[in-house]
Amino acid sequence: MEKKELFETYESEVRSYCRNLPAVFTTAKGSKMYDDAGVEYLDFFDGAGALNYGHNNDYIKGKVLEYLAADGITHALDLMTEAKAGFIDVLENKLLKPKNLDYKVQFTGPTGTNANEAAAKLARKVTGRTNIWAFMGSFHGMTAGSLALTSQKADRAGAGMPLSGATFIPSPYMLGGNFDSIGYMEMLMADDHSGADTPAAIFIETVQAEGGIYVFAEQFLRDLRAFCDKYGILLVVDDIQVGNARTGKFFSFERAGIVPDMVTLSKSIGGMGLPLALVLLKGELDIWKPGEHNGTFRGMQLSLVAGKAGIEYMLENDIEAEVERKGLLAQEYIASEIAPLSHVVEVRGLGLVRAIQMESPVQTAFIQKYNFEHQLISERCGRDSSATKIMPALTISDDELLKGLEIIKNAIKSL
Ligand SMILES: Cc1ncc(COP(=O)(O)O)c(C=O)c1O
Repeated sequence: MEKKELFETYESEVRSYCRNLPAVFTTAKGSKMYDDAGVEYLDFFDGAGALNYGHNNDYIKGKVLEYLAADGITHALDLMTEAKAGFIDVLENKLLKPKNLDYKVQFTGPTGTNANEAAAKLARKVTGRTNIWAFMGSFHGMTAGSLALTSQKADRAGAGMPLSGATFIPSPYMLGGNFDSIGYMEMLMADDHSGADTPAAIFIETVQAEGGIYVFAEQFLRDLRAFCDKYGILLVVDDIQVGNARTGKFFSFERAGIVPDMVTLSKSIGGMGLPLALVLLKGELDIWKPGEHNGTFRGMQLSLVAGKAGIEYMLENDIEAEVERKGLLAQEYIASEIAPLSHVVEVRGLGLVRAIQMESPVQTAFIQKYNFEHQLISERCGRDSSATKIMPALTISDDELLKGLEIIKNAIKSL
């Protein structure tokens, strides 16, 4: 049986990304991927943000290979291991302390959705409240608790059960960009007929990623922090997709100078695409009972080794500054070469996460297909999947970045 036929015959219909990127991939390096026919692709999707430091990053891979060669333990539940000690040490002392961030770390099951499940559970436990607010356009994961905080109707429909305990707040970019979300939340709190319960927490992606790359303004984030303080609501930043220096600073909220009560991380915290997820939580919130949010795969030692190396690589190579520089390069190209093209409605983004809003999903489907045929891996996002998403590795070279953007420009021109 031909390889593609194997997938089509035996793998569940739930398959998703492979439908629009129909190659059988074999190897990858940096920003390049190769298929079984030897065709080279430029990667502008980055494993949905899991490969911020590129495919098979030499430094990170070297540390993992060294560890494997020494018969390092590969799985350990939450036993104390040298690999975990190394990760915690670098996370706390090299990353958080210099940023004046004081968090304990909770390792959850290794997917982003599990980190959000844990943060939501803890917020409810700490406050004794049941409801959580999230913003329209948000994506927090596909398991029941996180899905309740995810706004896309099609995703929610898949739950097959009532998704409760969540209220969606309209985002400031809605209603023509003039929606006063803070004023609306103030009204929910003040009006004794609003029907709104005080939430345990507010979850936010400071740049909504799946929702269409909407950047929440710095002042808005500061106002949100003040609102949460005023009413004793916990602020949870989901930095699963736009953390790990994607927006320029390691944490996407740093630009606003705020400190969330909890932060969830996954995807690129695993260094080279290995599964790892965690919750950073303020010490006083740590009222968990032992094992209260347990999970077998909270002890992925290779992910911890790669995760430590990923943070080291990020710091040693000043990736934050590199992203700011390359982000501006991308922004300038997009503003001068892509934004003026017909059918382009709006361009949005920050650092190396950007979107080109088209008039319709038919156009973005065409762009994605054109890109693939010209050896560029890209994805769609936003309402009706009507935006083209640009999310290359943070280590991409300037030439590769501009080459990929040029392919997208040509795709739009040939619409
Ligand atoms: C912001 C955000 N939160 C949570 C998740 C869920 O992560 P996972 O797919 O690893 O469960 C994602 C995945 O795309 C995400 O972008």
